[in-house]
Amino acid sequence: MKVFVDTAIIEEIQAAKALGLADGVTTNPTLILKAGQDFRKTITAIAGLIEGPVLAEAVSEDRDGIVKEGMEMAKWAPNVVVKIPITRQGLEATRILDEEGVQTALTLVFSPTQALLAAKAGASMICPFIGRLDDIAQDGMDLIRTIVEMYSNYPEIKTEVVVASIRTPNHVVESALVGADAVTVPLKIIEQLIQHPLTDIGVRKFLEDWKKVRP
Ligand code: E4P
Repeated sequence: MKVFVDTAIIEEIQAAKALGLADGVTTNPTLILKAGQDFRKTITAIAGLIEGPVLAEAVSEDRDGIVKEGMEMAKWAPNVVVKIPITRQGLEATRILDEEGVQTALTLVFSPTQALLAAKAGASMICPFIGRLDDIAQDGMDLIRTIVEMYSNYPEIKTEVVVASIRTPNHVVESALVGADAVTVPLKIIEQLIQHPLTDIGVRKFLEDWKKVRP
């Protein structure tokens, strides 16, 4: 399973990269705002830093506007993937961009039907948001299970499932168990993936004992 880092902050991407956990980077307008830099400069800087896909979101709401933005962003770097909200206009734009050879990631996916339509439209990836479903007392991981099973029935579907809106380490474990292609994880959760109190206790004890061994 690929691990993407869900941030536009360069230092956070470098930290994830050092751990081998920056197979890709996902951004959205909120994350760009948090990074506090110009959109294009931020995306090109990230695209130069990692080899994998860098998801940059289009903000037009009409098909032609999305296509125009997507064609432009695709020129910024070869690994830029155009992220598009899954609306009717977004699906139409995805078809056109796919025909033009531009990689797309359909985002704000909350249902199996949307996932199916994204694949039919030729999306390279989809980003189902599981944390936001959990927030409204629905089972986000259940959506991932359904999509993965649905896609696996049709080997011709090449659309990758990038599990997004991850809030807990368990979301990462469960994504791996159901066979998602990728997870996109905020740095805070990456830190949580590393930590275990028994590891800390064990390291401290070994170091204390080692001091007693040394002459
Ligand atoms: C990534 O593609 C998404 O934009 C991101 O995971 C959304 O996460 P959130 O629901 O925590 O904002």
